[in-house]
Amino acid sequence: MPLSYPEPPLTDDVVILRPWELKDLPVLEEASCDEYVSLVEQLPVPFDARRGQDWIARKHATLSGGDGCELAIAERESGDAIGGIGFVFRHVPGTAEAGYWIVERRRRQGFASCALEIFSRWALTSGGGVVRMQATVEPWNLASQRVLAKAGFLQEGRLRSYASWRGRREDVFMYSLLAEDLELTGVAGSRVTRTRPSSVDLGAAWEENASAFIAWARTPNHDSYWQFHRDVFLELLPPRGRRTLDLGCGEGRLSRDLKRLGHDIVGIDGSPTMVAAARDADAEIEVQLADAAALPFADGEFDLVVAFMSLQDIDDFAGAVRESARVLEAGGRLCLAIVHPLSSAGRFEGATADSVFTIAGSYLDHSYYADNVVRDGLEIDFVSAHRPLQDYTEALANAGLLIERLREPALPEYAITREHSRRWQRLPIFLHARALKP
Ligand SMILES: C[S@@+](CC[C@H](N)C(=O)[O-])C[C@H]1O[C@@H](n2cnc3c(N)ncnc32)[C@H](O)[C@@H]1O
Repeated sequence: MPLSYPEPPLTDDVVILRPWELKDLPVLEEASCDEYVSLVEQLPVPFDARRGQDWIARKHATLSGGDGCELAIAERESGDAIGGIGFVFRHVPGTAEAGYWIVERRRRQGFASCALEIFSRWALTSGGGVVRMQATVEPWNLASQRVLAKAGFLQEGRLRSYASWRGRREDVFMYSLLAEDLELTGVAGSRVTRTRPSSVDLGAAWEENASAFIAWARTPNHDSYWQFHRDVFLELLPPRGRRTLDLGCGEGRLSRDLKRLGHDIVGIDGSPTMVAAARDADAEIEVQLADAAALPFADGEFDLVVAFMSLQDIDDFAGAVRESARVLEAGGRLCLAIVHPLSSAGRFEGATADSVFTIAGSYLDHSYYADNVVRDGLEIDFVSAHRPLQDYTEALANAGLLIERLREPALPEYAITREHSRRWQRLPIFLHARALKP
């Protein structure tokens, strides 16, 4: 099928991608002042309207000549162009090379990611002959690498001395996206975007995300809890005893499961919305609004404390461990599950089972991360702290607890619902520990 402009124009909530028009000359003039964009886009410098019109005519000729497709990225609200996106075919049939740019004043606002995502999906699925969409990016251009990763592109490797910039040869990274990756990375169904804020009030962040979490946690089979994590964690627990505390119980799903298993269970959480939801779901379970680092219980009231996926979300996690030890009786246990520190330190570069895992910053330093996860129509921000493993083992030791078990459960085969989950059969996504108060 010959190439034609997408009709109706590609759009989402943020951008609309449409053919270039003469009314876009002012934004081209603006872009011509950007050294990098003007070079890559071969914009006239100094800019004048006549050469700007020629530039627009060349963009339309790309399509009519069957060489590719080039569009303006416009803001959906105003229709004003703020950048450009396109692909041109390379020598191997079916291979198309993508490029995109945004004017400086509108960068870092997510426009490029939105545009690349809908443009790539269209290019690979509209029958225009694109089988492989590729893009090259300079190692220093981290913003562009983030845009590609967010749109589901996989980094394939480094091409040495491939480009030339300011008279110097430069390496580039080669990225690609295939039609089958759209399902793998879930460009449509599932997506994780990680940012690293410099500081966060974790308690406030969880209250803010509470409604999203309640919907997330209560949708049947939606997350790892239902798929395997609960069952693997339950194997770590000692036989049920006198009284169990669920520390950071959230909307209460584990408390309810433990009650069914015969535990006399009490939950605490720092988020009023979570506590209300937990009480609402089972009025028989005692749930208190409390800071895990200042528990409203007497010494030795419990023989089991479970902290399931909560310590990485608690500001004073060492205080929470200390308080857990205090409210345990001698011989009691703290059982915890957290995001594995390896997983919070780095990320996979691609979606295939063997993709490379990279730690770009420091594993040893404390940091924060916010994972925006979109899956099957639900969206949530998981805001957490990364701490190296030693921070947790020291907190346990300083609280007088002895580690009995330290486990790194691999994703069981039955929990693989998407191909990209296989990556977590090579590296641990969660860490479990059981500690004894002697
Ligand atoms: C990922 S959720 C886990 C909830 C629950 N354990 C589950 O797995 O469904 C983390 C929970 O930790 C709670 N939390 C964060 N900081 C806290 C604090 N200082 N004290 C008590 N709970 C806290 C949050 O409100 C949130 O409910």
